[in-house]
Amino acid sequence: MVLRRGYLGSLIQRSTIGSSLSKLGTSSLASQAASSLQQLCEPSSCSDGEYADIDWNNLGFGLTPTDYMYTMKCSKDENFKQGQVRRYGNIELSPSAGVLNYGQGLFEGIKAYRRENGRLFLFRPDQNAIRMQIGAERMCMISPSIEQFVHAVKETALANRRWIPPPGKGSLYIRPLLIGSGAILGLAPSPEYTFLIYASPVGNYFKEGTAPLNLYVEDEFHRASRGGAGGVKSITNYAPALKAQSKAQNGGFSDVLYLDAVNKRNIEEASSCNIFMVKDNVVSTPATAGTILEGITRRSIIDIARDLGYQVEERSIPVEELIDAEEVFCTGTAVGVAPVGSITYQGKRVEYEMGTQLVCGKLHSTFAGIQRGTVEDKRGWIVEI
Ligand code: COI
Repeated sequence: MVLRRGYLGSLIQRSTIGSSLSKLGTSSLASQAASSLQQLCEPSSCSDGEYADIDWNNLGFGLTPTDYMYTMKCSKDENFKQGQVRRYGNIELSPSAGVLNYGQGLFEGIKAYRRENGRLFLFRPDQNAIRMQIGAERMCMISPSIEQFVHAVKETALANRRWIPPPGKGSLYIRPLLIGSGAILGLAPSPEYTFLIYASPVGNYFKEGTAPLNLYVEDEFHRASRGGAGGVKSITNYAPALKAQSKAQNGGFSDVLYLDAVNKRNIEEASSCNIFMVKDNVVSTPATAGTILEGITRRSIIDIARDLGYQVEERSIPVEELIDAEEVFCTGTAVGVAPVGSITYQGKRVEYEMGTQLVCGKLHSTFAGIQRGTVEDKRGWIVEI
C-alpha cells in the first residue's frame, strides 16, 4: 500500500572547547608538522595545486588508498605523546590485540574540502576529538587530547592534499581510529593503544547518489540497547548492523531504519546516519539517550534549523508518526544531508515530498554553503588546514 503525503547534547555543551581550540591554534604543533612533513613528503606528491591522477568525476564511497597515514601509540599507563605521519600501508598487530579479540576500538569520520580559491578546510574536527574522548571513556581506552587529535587530522589531510578532490567533486574522508593494540588474553583493557588516521577521497555515500533514499524499518534486529555503547562511535556498533543492512539492500532499499530495542516502537537511526522528520514546519529528531549516535552533522543541522527559524524537537518519535510526516531526511558525515523518498514498515510504503524549496533542501544548502564558504560560518565551525 502506498500512502502519499504532500551531543552531542552534552558534547555540544562543551563546544566552547572547540571554538576556543580553533582560535587557540596549534602553532607549535603546526611547525612540528611542517618539518616532519618536509622530511616525509617527496615534492612530487606534496606540492600545492597538484591532484592525484584519479577520475574525480566518479567518486563513490569506496576506499582509494592515499599516500600517508598518521600513527601514535601509548601504553595504558601513560598519555599519547608524539605521533608521526608515515607512508600508508598495512599495520602489524598481535593476534591477541584487544581490538581483534574484544572489539576495543572507536572510529571517527571527518571531511576535508577544497574551495574554489584552493584553500583547504575541515568541518568541526574538535567535535570528533571530543566524541572520541567520550567514547574512549566508555570503552576504557586512553584517548588523544583534543589538540593532538585536531593536529593529527590536519597533518594527515595536508600530507594527502593531492587527494582532496577539486571543489564540488567530493571531499577527503578522514578516518581516525583508536584501537586497543596491546596483547591481552583475558577480558580487560588493552595494555597499549594506537591512534591511527587514514584517508580516502569520496563522493556520495549511497549508490543512489543525491537521489532520495528508500529506508526499510527493521523490527527484528536492533542496533543498540540501553546501557550499551550505541551513543558512542564504537566499532562494535557496526558489524551487527550488517545483517539487517544486507537484508534491506537485497530488498532494494538504501538503508535500515532501526527501532528502539525495548518497545520496538520509536525510531532511532539508520545504520550509517541519524534521521529527522518535518511536519508543520517543526523539525524533529529522536533524542539521543545512549542508544543513538551523537552525530556532529545531526547537531549542526539542529543549530542551523533553529537559526533559520524552525522549531526543533529532540524527542521520542513513534514509527507511526512517519506516516504523517511531510519530509524525512538523514544526516551524517559520510551521508551529508540526504532526503528520504520513502519508508517501508511492515509492508506499507510511505512516500515523501522532494524539492530544494522544502525544509531539507534549505538545511542542506545552508550546511553545504557553510562548508563551501558561500554561507557565513557564524559559529566558527570551519577550520582551515
Ligand atoms: C560517518 O558518517 O562518518 C560514519 O562514520 C558512518 C560510517 C558507516 C561510514
